[in-house]
Amino acid sequence: MSETQAPTSSSSLDAKPKPLADLQTLVSLCKRRGFIFQSSEIYGGLNSCWDYGPLGADFKFNVKMSWWKAMTRRADIVGLDAAILMHPMVWKASGHVDGFSDPLCDCKSCKTRFRQDTAPQKDGKTICPNCESKDVTEPRNFNLMFKTHMGPVEDASNVVYLRPETAQGIFVNFENVQTSTRKKIPFGIAQIGKSFRNEITPGNFIFRTREFEQMEMQYFVKPGTDMDWFEKWKESRLQHYAALGFSKEKLRFKEHGPGELAHYARAAFDVQYEFPFGWQELEGIHNRGDFDLSQHAKFSGKKIEYFDEAAKEKFVPYVIETAVGCDRLVLAILCNAYNEESVGAEGDNDSRIVMRFKPSLAPIQVACLPLSKKPELQSVASKIRDDLAQDFRADYDEAASIGKRYRRQDEVGTPFCLTVDFETQNDQKVTVRHRDTMAQDRVDMTQLAQYLNEKFKTF
Ligand code: GAP
Repeated sequence: MSETQAPTSSSSLDAKPKPLADLQTLVSLCKRRGFIFQSSEIYGGLNSCWDYGPLGADFKFNVKMSWWKAMTRRADIVGLDAAILMHPMVWKASGHVDGFSDPLCDCKSCKTRFRQDTAPQKDGKTICPNCESKDVTEPRNFNLMFKTHMGPVEDASNVVYLRPETAQGIFVNFENVQTSTRKKIPFGIAQIGKSFRNEITPGNFIFRTREFEQMEMQYFVKPGTDMDWFEKWKESRLQHYAALGFSKEKLRFKEHGPGELAHYARAAFDVQYEFPFGWQELEGIHNRGDFDLSQHAKFSGKKIEYFDEAAKEKFVPYVIETAVGCDRLVLAILCNAYNEESVGAEGDNDSRIVMRFKPSLAPIQVACLPLSKKPELQSVASKIRDDLAQDFRADYDEAASIGKRYRRQDEVGTPFCLTVDFETQNDQKVTVRHRDTMAQDRVDMTQLAQYLNEKFKTF
């Protein structure tokens, strides 16, 4: 089907590619190539809000799909899509109304408002992180939930919150899901959706924002089996990250000590990734015990229990939760995929930026390029694109030299480029160029879909 041509002397790779050194480089690439734009940019932007552009929207969708498939293709996990607005009692029961807050101080000198628990201390006193003044107010609790009103009247009786986590939509639907699906414990419910937190210190691009998407899975188990499942889920989540292309060295677990555990947690580990700004939480894996189901039973007055038919016993299931921010994972994959390399002059440049995305995540999987602007080459390349677009995310590009077009595709992580050249009419073959090695194959036009599918399997 194809003959592999080794990279020629005019397209050799430097042995030491450079990873991403700073976030700003990535922010620029994301804007330049249409992955991520600042929200409301023409009005000066809105702090910590970001919009996904054409490539970013596709890329984020692929990240979500890979998580969704990893979860819901299992026989023991089903999906859910709950509303963002929920009954306000949900947040009373969950502990968010009373406890989801940060302690804030105001500096009387420079008027900065800051978090007391992360501010510097001197002689037992909190000092302002901006001007180092000791003249600061006592801390006051600031609730992180966004509040609004349901309906036309704005008073305390119709306050609702934008959900700060998707998990509660799963807990309050536990019985609906269990009865409608007749799932037996252990089983899980997976959900992807927007969450909102009025963070005091958002930042680092899409790492911490006030509006973000979460991918959460609650796995309901019999009490006593919870720590086994907790360990299994830790392992399973690491395998998922390996499949997304993360190396072991860039990920680690960090256990929450007794003083760090959230009010609902019996055990908790963060999966951390080494971002350019340091090791930071990517995902939380929590053993929530029966806290949530018991709280909702108490506040709603409805029993929430599971009847184990085999053992003829009732119990309140324990919950193992895996919770990852989709935007944060998008950022980690972008950082992880980024490489800058010196190359021999394959085209017009002697260096390239390449995003080494897995093909399942790449926003463009294959680009079809006519070697020149000759109509007979353009029509063939364009037809190949249309045919491949049935099964792949396919792009067509005819602008600029072939070298420049390869560079453009490298920069957005396109695994393969197909070039239609003057030989194509004679031999019915196109040149397939591999993103990572820049090696080239000559492949029969009728075999392209099969060729790509095979390559993607072992990528
Ligand atoms: N239901 C449990 C829960 O929400 P969390 O540790 O607060 O736990 C889970 O959040 C994940 O959601 C985090 O590991 C992070 O990836 C993401 N996340 C949380 N706050 C975020 C924010 N402000 N911006 C972006 N992602 C956020």
